[in-house]
Amino acid sequence: MSKSVELARLIRSRAGDQPPEYGMILGSGLGHLAGTVEGVAIPYDDLPGFPHAGVSGHVPQLVIGTLQGRRVAVFGGRSHYYETGCADAMRLPLEVLAELGCDRLILTNAAGSLRADMPPGSLMLLSDHIAFAGANPLIGERTDARFVPMTDAHDLGLRAALAAAARAEGVVLPEGVYGWFSGPSFETPAEIRAAKVLGMDAVGMSTVPEIILARFLGLRVAAVSVITNMGAGLSDEAISHDHTKAMAPLGAAKLERVLHRFLRDSR
Ligand code: HPA
Repeated sequence: MSKSVELARLIRSRAGDQPPEYGMILGSGLGHLAGTVEGVAIPYDDLPGFPHAGVSGHVPQLVIGTLQGRRVAVFGGRSHYYETGCADAMRLPLEVLAELGCDRLILTNAAGSLRADMPPGSLMLLSDHIAFAGANPLIGERTDARFVPMTDAHDLGLRAALAAAARAEGVVLPEGVYGWFSGPSFETPAEIRAAKVLGMDAVGMSTVPEIILARFLGLRVAAVSVITNMGAGLSDEAISHDHTKAMAPLGAAKLERVLHRFLRDSR
């Protein structure tokens, strides 16, 4: 039996058979949403092969249950490329999600903004991304399925529904291009200037590998950034992980309202 089939069985035995309608992966400092799910929390440590989420600001557990009347599977922790040098660390959790019968994924992250109209506390809906880190989670995959088209990776239907939810909540949700930098060091001011020229609107250290994996597995996917700071050199604020965690709740409260409404109104 494959690992994902085995883990899906284990999860069903604890959380029930009903397939999740949505998977969600929560970014740094954005874990509060998991606590609003009525259901069962399974620590990653109980799920062999799941990453040991080693970044503060993440709670390494899978919460399966009901949120706004929808069945959801919320991943409180993610593994980042910079933790291990492996871009595919979230492959098994996403394979398990697909195995559970889920076909839609919403990703959240904390990001630095390159646009004056998206100050800290803003949200940004990803319209597209640039995998600037140069890595790919499908390197080593042997089947022809590895040649995943990315033209429509950021699902139009999910984006429209998220935009509608934001409008209904009175939350401004501009679309923009997310640039994936490997981290863990933050960008230099010169890199941020270059990123701007290349067409990035926000930068971060996650999400893109998961988008690629999700498309590989046939999941529809959309992602929202919570802006915690301006990119390096664009403001006087000092950039740090502590600053990211401290600023995330500002946008996270808005994001939570949008996601709750999105789930409530989704069909
Ligand atoms: N750069 C990269 N990742 C980030 C940033 C940033 O400025 N802010 C939060 N995550």
